[in-house]
Amino acid sequence: MQWFARAVVALAACASTHVCAASGVGPVCGLDCRAPTTQCPTEGTNNTFCANAWNSDGKGYQCLEIGDDQQSFVATSHWTSLPVYIVHSYPHVKLGSPHFPLQFHDIASLHVDAEWGMRRDAGSSAEPNFTLDADGLTKSRCTANVAFDIWADLDPAHAANESVAGFEIMIWLGVFGSVQPLGWDNKTSGTRQRLRLGDNSFTLFVGSGSAGHSTFTWMPDTNYTRISHDLSPLVQYLWNNNLVPAEAYVGTVGFGSESFFSLDPVNFSAQSLSLNVTSKSNASSFSCDSLAGKHQPPSLSSFLVSLVISLLVFSIP
Ligand SMILES: *[C@@H]1O[C@H](CO)[C@@H](O)[C@H](O)[C@H]1NC(C)=O
Ligand SMILES: *[C@@H]1O[C@H](CO)[C@@H](O)[C@H](O)[C@H]1NC(C)=O
Ligand SMILES: *[C@@H]1O[C@H](CO)[C@@H](O)[C@H](O)[C@H]1NC(C)=O
Ligand SMILES: *[C@@H]1O[C@H](CO)[C@@H](O)[C@H](O)[C@H]1NC(C)=O
Ligand SMILES: *[C@@H]1O[C@H](CO)[C@@H](O)[C@H](O)[C@H]1NC(C)=O
Ligand SMILES: *[C@@H]1O[C@H](CO)[C@@H](O)[C@H](O)[C@H]1NC(C)=O
Ligand SMILES: *[C@@H]1O[C@H](CO)[C@@H](O)[C@H](O)[C@H]1NC(C)=O
Ligand SMILES: *[C@@H]1O[C@H](CO)[C@@H](O)[C@H](O)[C@H]1NC(C)=O
Repeated sequence: MQWFARAVVALAACASTHVCAASGVGPVCGLDCRAPTTQCPTEGTNNTFCANAWNSDGKGYQCLEIGDDQQSFVATSHWTSLPVYIVHSYPHVKLGSPHFPLQFHDIASLHVDAEWGMRRDAGSSAEPNFTLDADGLTKSRCTANVAFDIWADLDPAHAANESVAGFEIMIWLGVFGSVQPLGWDNKTSGTRQRLRLGDNSFTLFVGSGSAGHSTFTWMPDTNYTRISHDLSPLVQYLWNNNLVPAEAYVGTVGFGSESFFSLDPVNFSAQSLSLNVTSKSNASSFSCDSLAGKHQPPSLSSFLVSLVISLLVFSIP
């Protein structure tokens, strides 16, 4: 009971000051990351959950809750300052692999599984529902994306460090409101390249990020809330076409939602996440299935959490 009371206080503090202590199961806010202790313990790697409010406007907040099973998370964001096109946070999970850092030309496959939902939190109490609440998101003028974020560098020691890595590859799965990828206004890109993957097609945008690194964003034709696919063709395309050096190392793969603006708090929920990286030169493969379980909400939120309903699922077979 005491833990329960402390956790509620932590959540309240989180919403008002955007700073939370990271201990035990509870909210992770601000810039904090948390590596649960039970992720893939035998494989020497763990997935790490990050609230990642890296560009807070000082008024809004970003917090996330890891499920009691440590196999899922719900991130709540609320950024209300204008203009709507400034990104404030990227709540995400970093998917671990003992193969990283791994050179582009050595990647045989990058198989991902993910299931997610995005919903307006208008105060009703709800269990996470891994679907899109299109009406609520439109009413809230939610401006956000859902994306994989892959970082790479020629120096393997820099490949996982987002402050210094030279290349960022984003693969968007969801687009809400008027968000544009970096490079959308790049006039020298010529005809934008397109690639088909499963049932969806992606368009490539080439640009540069605030840290001076090169950015490559694959935008989907349609949203989808489930994916089970090998993403490596989208990465191979870049080095086959000399957009990134084949020798550069991939250091990290994240999955989350870039949050820009919304009139109401918005919940991004993710579960069934896994990454199986295979290397051409090193036959051993690995799949972190530790997130493959279904969401069990934290005991803290079982009384706060509520259920809103609507279903819009596009899937890649
Ligand atoms: C992953 O978690 C296990 C179990 O708690 C721990 O022993 C191990 O050191 C962690 N590995 C990494 C790379 O953090
Ligand atoms: C091969 O990959 C495994 C992880 O699956 C790693 O532990 C091992 O060190 C790798 N071996 C070499 C030679 O890179
Ligand atoms: C990432 O690079 C920055 C800038 O060089 C450095 O300050 C920071 O310690 C690095 N982070 C890690 C985790 O190595
Ligand atoms: C625009 O795209 C081209 C190739 O598509 C790329 O070489 C160039 O660096 C991009 N410009 C910026 C400012 O990122
Ligand atoms: C994704 O869903 C939102 C909300 O329903 C919609 O406004 C948007 O146009 C969709 N985007 C794509 C690329 O399908
Ligand atoms: C990982 O992917 C490889 C190549 O598709 C496959 O052979 C292997 O069985 C997968 N491993 C796991 C643990 O799913
Ligand atoms: C949004 O997430 C918060 C924190 O997990 C929870 O309390 C709330 O009930 C959720 N709302 C909806 C509509 O899912
Ligand atoms: C989520 O919403 C859909 C659509 O309204 C509904 O059919 C489904 O049962 C809900 N899922 C859960 C887990 O409640």
